[in-house]
Amino acid sequence: MHTMATVAELFETMAWGPAPEAAEPALAWLDQHARTFSHFINGSFQPAATRFTVHNPANRQPLAEVAQGTPEDVDQAVKAARAAQPDWAATPGHVRARYLYALARQVQKHSRLFAVLESLDNGKPIRESRDLDVPLVARHFAYHAGWAQLMAEELPGYGPVGVVGQIIPWNFPLLMLAWKVAPALAMGNTVVLKPAEFTPLTALLFAEITHAIGLPKGVFNLVTGDGDTGAALVNHADVDKIAFTGSTDVGRLIRRATAGTGKRLSLELGGKSPFIVFDDADLDGAVEGLVDAIWFNQGQVCCAGSRLLVQESIEQRFLDKVRTRMAKLRVGDPLDKAIDIGAIVAPSQLERITSLVRAGQAEGASVWQPPDACPTDGWFYPPTLITNVGPASELAQVEIFGPVLVSMSFRTPSEAVALANNTRYGLAASLWTQDIDQALDVARAIQAGTVWINSTNVFDASSGFGGYRESGYGREGGREGLWEYVRRKASPTGPTSAAQSASQSTAGHSTPGRSTAGPSSTGLSSAAAYSDTAYSTAPSSGSPTPFAVAPTKSEAPPIDRTPKLFIGGKQARPDSGYSVTVYTHDGTALGEVGEGNRKDIRNAVEAARAALPAWSGATGYNRAQILYYLAENLSVRAPEFSHRITAMTGADGAAEVEHAIERLFAAAAWADKFEGRVHTPPLRGAALAVPEPVGVIGIACATTQSPLLGLISQVAPAIAMGNTTVVVPSERHPLSATDLYQVLETSDVPAGVINIVTGPTDPLAQVLADHDDVDAIWYTGTPQGQKTVESASTGNMKRTWTHLESELDLASMPMEETLREATQVKNIWMVQSYMGGKHEPNDW
Ligand code: NAI
Repeated sequence: MHTMATVAELFETMAWGPAPEAAEPALAWLDQHARTFSHFINGSFQPAATRFTVHNPANRQPLAEVAQGTPEDVDQAVKAARAAQPDWAATPGHVRARYLYALARQVQKHSRLFAVLESLDNGKPIRESRDLDVPLVARHFAYHAGWAQLMAEELPGYGPVGVVGQIIPWNFPLLMLAWKVAPALAMGNTVVLKPAEFTPLTALLFAEITHAIGLPKGVFNLVTGDGDTGAALVNHADVDKIAFTGSTDVGRLIRRATAGTGKRLSLELGGKSPFIVFDDADLDGAVEGLVDAIWFNQGQVCCAGSRLLVQESIEQRFLDKVRTRMAKLRVGDPLDKAIDIGAIVAPSQLERITSLVRAGQAEGASVWQPPDACPTDGWFYPPTLITNVGPASELAQVEIFGPVLVSMSFRTPSEAVALANNTRYGLAASLWTQDIDQALDVARAIQAGTVWINSTNVFDASSGFGGYRESGYGREGGREGLWEYVRRKASPTGPTSAAQSASQSTAGHSTPGRSTAGPSSTGLSSAAAYSDTAYSTAPSSGSPTPFAVAPTKSEAPPIDRTPKLFIGGKQARPDSGYSVTVYTHDGTALGEVGEGNRKDIRNAVEAARAALPAWSGATGYNRAQILYYLAENLSVRAPEFSHRITAMTGADGAAEVEHAIERLFAAAAWADKFEGRVHTPPLRGAALAVPEPVGVIGIACATTQSPLLGLISQVAPAIAMGNTTVVVPSERHPLSATDLYQVLETSDVPAGVINIVTGPTDPLAQVLADHDDVDAIWYTGTPQGQKTVESASTGNMKRTWTHLESELDLASMPMEETLREATQVKNIWMVQSYMGGKHEPNDW
């Protein structure tokens, strides 16, 4: 219609004319393949038995027939990846870097073909696929070419995980491929990728370019299909790791399916991210940000700013501006360069959006949509603003995954934070204020993996992306994302051996504070004063006794001293009213400990949760001091502890105590040094990658191995990073833990930071795994226990870190690995003069 307008009319309306991008080259590429595709396995396309149709969401027309992968297809692909993996891992980093660089260059050279094909297949505006998706894809491969080059020097002691199964969604089909494939290949893994059934076409084009650059056969394999194909990949016994992006429900299924299999897992799941506007914000800038936050990609963005939280004093003014802007958003043909909002990917998604909005309306929510916004020949949905909703309503809690914004107001910054965190998700947040103090305060208080200050939906390969809470775990991008694709090699170097030699070197020498050489003012006798038999010797006066005191010459019976549990800084009687006997390594009864149960764990979790705000808010320096003090007090009592360990386990107790003291020192050392990074993406600004505590960590220690060291080497780094803990100590040898109570009490460890519940490992670990107020569970034990813990963790998608006791090698575990488990990275973006998240196409 605009072509008919006169210049004078156009000057008056300033309306955009249509600016269509040609679809022909992409359609010609489809035609070259007779619009029929199959799996790409071991370097070539393989025949397929069944196919399904892929549609263009903007006009509902079929685009191509794509193969439906069977378990046999998946098996072929995994076999090819397995066969190719050793050579790929052995390929020098520089050579892998050349392949990744070539992939980046190919994506750039064919950028328009990729962009048009993506828009045809997914319905996203060409402006977005051309200016954001495809340039970022090239950037990911180029960035990770750099990590392939640097892997040997920057990640010494680490090698690839092996064969990785990757399952991706339909909202950013090619970008999600890049996020997953680039780091995997850079680190020497081989890949089987399963794209989403709605949008497999750009992945097929990508398969072609891997062939074109001569990527060795089997390094990248592609099996198309639906959720059943994905499940076959998840369940394949020879896959070492699954990386998934998609819905939280499927994420849960995958966690359960992989539980106990030893497969590594990273999950990037849903979100309901807040977009917070304070009264001092640049309101026009915030409105433009909001457009990028919720109407980018039709709102089908896991980190979409779908919950607007606006300060009450400016609410009406801001919403008026939003409505005015919404009325100008153009919904229509994705290939039109003047279009802001394209089509919804599939009728099922359109139906989901429609029914969620209708249900909200029926509950009293007010729904506003600009008039006549939508074409009717495809799967379109208009930009939508919903007001009059309560924070607990379904619309405010559920991920709608469409162009639907839900608005609520707040009065104070603390109310804004409370509302922002009132969600089970924690993927991202965007906040708008001119007050730098307020910005940083709120950024720190929000539970989310990414926080954008005065900006939104900015992404870069250098900055790790991923969730807190039920938004999943693991990071994609940045140095932090590399850990998902590496594992420690069998014979470690670097920090591991350094830690080992440090502990070994203290074992035979007199070190400062070492108990045998240390001050005797505590009244503790040396290890020699203890005999190997329980109940036989009491330490000299003034020191707390380890357990029971031997009968004295006066024939008085020993004072019974059954340790209780340690909860909230106090000894607490076990709820069960039962005690269990602890034996020496040769079968003599050594004492008793309380038998903890579900209720005790619940109390301990409550205490740990209550202690978390203060402890996580303490400085690293402060936590370091407490850890050093713990080491000092343990050292003072070293003979008693070593005697006890020897009695229980028959092993060298003195060496174990020394090693535990060294671990406390190491954790103290790291407490103020495990720092973040500043990522420097290619725009004006920076992202501060800050490691934050995970929260409340449940720790189930090995049942028999190294009872003191096992506990300390997990608890010390956990609390060093600001977490609070609920510990189930060694089931067979719990007395090293109960003996610690008094050490904890005398070392200024705040109440609730370390809670100890003795009792049967697996049942208590399961209670911890089931508990929705525990944020992570670390478990060492049996394959069955591992499986139970991992599958029970899905309630709140807690992070799991499990080891088989038979394979646990505490001595060679580098502390940095534990510190990474004890933290999650939050990226706080500060972007100068935010102009939208677009990346300029690079002309190399
Ligand atoms: P989905 O989670 O079912 O699909 C994502 C991928 O997982 C696809 O490749 C699919 O084939 C695969 N998949 C499905 N079932 C599987 C299984 N049992 N085992 C292994 N792989 C499986 O997401 P869907 O149904 O397409 O979308 C539903 C909702 O999920 C959306 O409305 C949105 O709320 C959310 N979602 C979130 C995404 C995100 O990036 N966070 C992406 C896609 C969807």
